[in-house]
Amino acid sequence: MTSLHFVIFCVFFGPSGCQINCIPEAVDETKFTVNVTEHIRVESIDCVVIPHRVTFPRGRVAARYQKMLFQGDPSNVIDKKVVYDADSNKEDSFSIKNLPCGEYDYGFKLEWGCNQTYTFPERVHVSVLPLATKPTVLVPLLTEEERSELICGVAKPCSQRLRVCWKWTKADGQSAVLSDYRYGILDQWFYGYKDTLRINPTAHHHNTNITCVAEYDNDLTEATVTLNVKFKPKITNDSHCLVKGELLVCMCVSWGNPLPPISWPLENLTTFSVTSLRIAQTVRSTFTMPASEYHSATVKCTSSNERGLAETSIIIRNSEESAKPNTLPGRRKGIDSALPWIAGLCFSLNLVFITALIVHICQRRNNKQKEQSKEIDIYMSLKKGGVEEEYSVISAKPKPKPFTKTGKWL
Ligand SMILES: *[C@@H]1O[C@H](CO)[C@@H](O)[C@H](O)[C@H]1NC(C)=O
Ligand SMILES: *[C@@H]1O[C@H](CO)[C@@H](O)[C@H](O)[C@H]1NC(C)=O
Ligand SMILES: *[C@@H]1O[C@H](CO)[C@@H](O)[C@H](O)[C@H]1NC(C)=O
Repeated sequence: MTSLHFVIFCVFFGPSGCQINCIPEAVDETKFTVNVTEHIRVESIDCVVIPHRVTFPRGRVAARYQKMLFQGDPSNVIDKKVVYDADSNKEDSFSIKNLPCGEYDYGFKLEWGCNQTYTFPERVHVSVLPLATKPTVLVPLLTEEERSELICGVAKPCSQRLRVCWKWTKADGQSAVLSDYRYGILDQWFYGYKDTLRINPTAHHHNTNITCVAEYDNDLTEATVTLNVKFKPKITNDSHCLVKGELLVCMCVSWGNPLPPISWPLENLTTFSVTSLRIAQTVRSTFTMPASEYHSATVKCTSSNERGLAETSIIIRNSEESAKPNTLPGRRKGIDSALPWIAGLCFSLNLVFITALIVHICQRRNNKQKEQSKEIDIYMSLKKGGVEEEYSVISAKPKPKPFTKTGKWL
């Protein structure tokens, strides 16, 4: 009997000699089955777990067999398990780490005895999708010079390395890295990790963007918030007062958050006008009155909001552009005898001057009326509060920092 010879052979030459000479047996392929999920979807930071349960003819596939997972082609084995206990109905799983985004196919095969294999026809399709969860950025109420902490919560990867960094994008679009936490140990936070950024907010942080970037070995995700920093008014040095002809014209420019209204010393005044323009966080107020009614060398401009008050005394200057009518080309080359001609010139000059004066007065009246109606308009709008669009239409001279006012708070 061949089997008897085989046993004797094994006894004499040991198990290794036995394996070399063993003969593969025929198996009934219908007795092999594997129960698997056909399609598995995961995100790029997850590990892929492939649960399965194999069934095979117990009498044929004896204990100490190998169960293998291959990707694509059966020869491309990526993981294997040696099973000593032939409990065929046990649920088991393979786990795959660090799979980049993409589509993958996996299959199973068994190997036992004399290098006998069986490849299951079932395949598992795995889709690794980009991480959909963005970092969560928490920003407290920010106030100038009050140290604050921003928190960025990120998802925990199954096995990949994680780097968290903070980027600051200034109003001019330039960005700078504020903090870079590269592959260290982050604090646990809910279902992930957190990183904390400490800042001393200033007025220049207002309306700028802070981005928290979470970078994994196989993916990158980020979230951006626009900072809203409360700060007290600051009166800028382009505020000025000029005497233009009979008029005293003052302009005061202040910026603050919330928007800081400007006030002028209007007590005891009867004839004056005030107009205000708002551009982002800046208020530009113009004050006009007859110069003869003002008896001081400076004008006080005051601006305030809930964070504080700013005040400045603007020195009144004389405008250089006060009437300079003698700008005719020098034609009088010692022709003193041409007196009648000079008289004629004087007459026409007077005529021009008078006409100009009339036109000027008419224009001023018009302007005054316009300014007064504008003023009413603007103050009504200021009361409404936060209606930026109305002003951006009026604003002819945008300030160098065109802040947008939409703040996103998470
Ligand atoms: C089984 O196959 C491997 C290579 O695939 C070989 O190294 C080994 O010797 C074989 N074993 C037997 C018992 O045939
Ligand atoms: C800040 O982010 C917002 C959207 O979150 C964007 O509209 C704006 O342009 C960004 N500003 C800067 C200065 O990058
Ligand atoms: C206004 O102040 C800034 C600094 O705050 C300075 O650079 C600039 O020269 C000043 N302008 C005038 C007209 O004084």
